[in-house]
Amino acid sequence: MDTASTLTEPVWKDDGISRIPFRVYTDEKLYQRELERCFYRGHWNYVGLEAEIPNPGDFKRTVIGERSVILVRDQEGEINVVENVCAHRGMKFCRERSGNRKDFHCPYHQWNYDLKGNLQGVPFRRGVKQDGKVNGGMPADFKPQDHGLTRLKVSVRGGVVFASFDHEVEPLEDFLGPEITGYFDRLFNGRKLKILGYNKQRIPGNWKLMQENIKDPYHPGLLHTWFVTFGLWRADNKSRLVMDEQFRHAAMVSTRGQGGKGEVTSGVASFKDQMALQDDRILDIVHEPWWGDPTAVMMTVFPSVIFQQQVNSVSTRHIQPNGPDSFDFVWTHFGFEDDTEEMTRRRLRQANLFGPAGFVSADDGEVIECSQEGFTQKPWHRVLAELGGTTAENTDHMVTETLIRGMYAYWRKVMEI
Ligand code: FES
Ligand code: FE2
Repeated sequence: MDTASTLTEPVWKDDGISRIPFRVYTDEKLYQRELERCFYRGHWNYVGLEAEIPNPGDFKRTVIGERSVILVRDQEGEINVVENVCAHRGMKFCRERSGNRKDFHCPYHQWNYDLKGNLQGVPFRRGVKQDGKVNGGMPADFKPQDHGLTRLKVSVRGGVVFASFDHEVEPLEDFLGPEITGYFDRLFNGRKLKILGYNKQRIPGNWKLMQENIKDPYHPGLLHTWFVTFGLWRADNKSRLVMDEQFRHAAMVSTRGQGGKGEVTSGVASFKDQMALQDDRILDIVHEPWWGDPTAVMMTVFPSVIFQQQVNSVSTRHIQPNGPDSFDFVWTHFGFEDDTEEMTRRRLRQANLFGPAGFVSADDGEVIECSQEGFTQKPWHRVLAELGGTTAENTDHMVTETLIRGMYAYWRKVMEI
């Protein structure tokens, strides 16, 4: 049952998009409706990279919303995504994070599935012969083909795998829209990817706060000492904010300036004039031809993923909600198969900016946690996101919360709130 009928009090008191009720981040019923409408229906969800499962039989366990799924390459080389719930009595049968398999079997009663999710074996299906007669077994009309694993719709672009429980979902390229697809293809332009490593953290905050964080160009030059001091991301950088037609996805596009003192650092407490690096290889930035002009493009694809290029560090960040006030955040740092050894070292060093303990990203995890605490403490209140106006549109500067307003315009429509 959809929870729409069970939300009785009005959630949002006006019809704007700039004042977001705190309840939007804390309410269990709203969260259940988000899972149904934003994760399980009508949307493509990130599940992983092709490079994580290069060989037939390779699999990786992951989630869409709160539903456990398995991403697997079958013997024909095709990529499948199946739900990790046994068709017999519902066991979440796959316990390993990743591995290689000829088939899947559920440990409980050994039902066996091929790598496309078809049921191929049921022990004692035809019963047991005892004293000259057959006892038990499945009914004579039992059809294995009716009892496979739930299969998801899959779309692969540039080595990135998306899946959806909704087989009616629009094509991935329509879902992203032309402008976001353009930025997506800039990063995933057909080169083979190379996995460099993972980070994983649990952040005690609502999952949308992570989307908001990467739709918020206001904070990086203020919160992050690292960015403002070394010029990686500041309000005076040349920039563009771009959304798809429905305002659900976005790209924050920025070109690095010089760093150091300037108009935008005066009075900024996080700017540390005297701060210098003992090991400056962390900022040994080499311009790569595929970047074009921008030095950083941060893409938010609703609801489940962020694609990061911040100079030579590239990663995917997978949002995995668990309840209205917590989500797991899984970072996959990657490079490209044709990278030199030196470039791989460089990407790995710059990856220290990001992840749970990153010089930059540790700040974001903490402010999200503290925001959630504020929402819980003052449940009748609302967020004020009116920097740059009260409507949503693309801009060519960063002093605006337009992308956050855009996401809530979309969210209100899908959620019917
Ligand atoms: Fe999986 Fe019985 S629950 S085989
Ligand atoms: Fe940040």
